[in-house]
Amino acid sequence: MQINPGGRLDTKDIIGRDNEIGRYWRVLQRQGLVLSAERRIGKTHILLKMREECQSGYLPFYQDLEAVHSIPELIRSIYGTVRQSLGAMPNVKAYIAKWSTLLPTKVGGIDLPTADASWQVLLSEAFDDLIDIGDDNTRILMLWDEFPLMLHNLQRRVGADTAIQLLDHLRALRLARADRLRFLFTGSVGLHLVLRSLREAGNANDPVNDMLSLAVPPIAHPDTCALAAALLHETRAAPAHIPGLASQIANEVGGFPFYVHHVVDRLDQLGRQPNLEDVSAAADHLVYAPNDPASLNYYVTRLSLYYPEDQRALALLVLDALAPQLSPTSVPELLNLCRHRDPSLANEQLRETLTLLSEDHYIERRKGATGAVYDFRWALVKKWWKETRS
Ligand SMILES: Nc1ncnc2c1ncn2[C@@H]1O[C@H](COP(=O)(O)OP(=O)(O)OP(=O)(O)O)[C@@H](O)[C@H]1O
Ligand SMILES: [Mg+2]
Repeated sequence: MQINPGGRLDTKDIIGRDNEIGRYWRVLQRQGLVLSAERRIGKTHILLKMREECQSGYLPFYQDLEAVHSIPELIRSIYGTVRQSLGAMPNVKAYIAKWSTLLPTKVGGIDLPTADASWQVLLSEAFDDLIDIGDDNTRILMLWDEFPLMLHNLQRRVGADTAIQLLDHLRALRLARADRLRFLFTGSVGLHLVLRSLREAGNANDPVNDMLSLAVPPIAHPDTCALAAALLHETRAAPAHIPGLASQIANEVGGFPFYVHHVVDRLDQLGRQPNLEDVSAAADHLVYAPNDPASLNYYVTRLSLYYPEDQRALALLVLDALAPQLSPTSVPELLNLCRHRDPSLANEQLRETLTLLSEDHYIERRKGATGAVYDFRWALVKKWWKETRS
């Protein structure tokens, strides 16, 4: 197995996730799915594993929509993805022939100057064409990665109205073709953030309420240890030490496979047998290294990108107050801490911010001895926040 923090893994190197994927297939039997989670937790690799190990009865198409900035680009990308994916699928020669004859006229149509105005028709046709390639018992499964980012781009480049119309159009399509079409949306930006901003700009009400929203959990503890152990085998670690080192890595970084890859990468660079202290030093390196190898600064910059200015200021206030706390904090305690920094903070503003930060996976609400308490979701992020911003 290759140590590869942040890169694209071979399917065989994607560890665990079987429980989650099993659950997602069961949901897809009946409705579409929106997966949310913090950045780098492994969403894309879940989608890739689902595509590779697709259940019978589905034709899966994975699309990364990050670079899509207009609806004609989206439609072109659908045709392009299908052509490419069919080439990699077994037993679909007939589909490929059909698709190849269709492609020039379709793509030609998308490039016409009138395409911008008639995108609804072109998009519906694209899905009709797709549904056409399967038989009556086959469902087309669109695995749409970075869907929220595409909406955000559309909102900025083309306008909120177009993004809202696209959401409404997709909803109508899902309802009309529920027997033959399923969508799974995910991405590094939460869909809730983009919907919130669209709601402020127009009248997007609840355009994905026919789909189930689930948060992608960390990988299970035994899988985290298994991943760490498999990666340690690539280093100079003594085989007898690997189980102990692996469990120490899981304790340091939790079920976040991206950080596991990073820590083992650091151990690998030692050029000697790593020990338990090296594991702690490697985890600390993620927090203290000036080049921010695990991109923890993204937790700050994304607030500027996706939060309105007043919400961003409140989010920073709460997170800055929470980071130095040694234990999880109750709402009254947090209100006190925040009011030391900003005496005008209203109770309701704090509660709204806590909800937003929880939805956005920065913090977690837990059950404390005398009621609900809040803390950072990831100890590593908390440590980074404290060391960098306090
Ligand atoms: N199941 C897994 N097994 C092993 N490594 C994993 C797994 N999932 C993720 N990783 C590691 O974490 C990295 C990030 O994973 P991935 O790109 O899937 O995250 P993501 O949630 O899609 O991130 P982003 O939000 O930035 O799109 C991978 O490059 C790999 O190093
Ligand atoms: Mg991703």
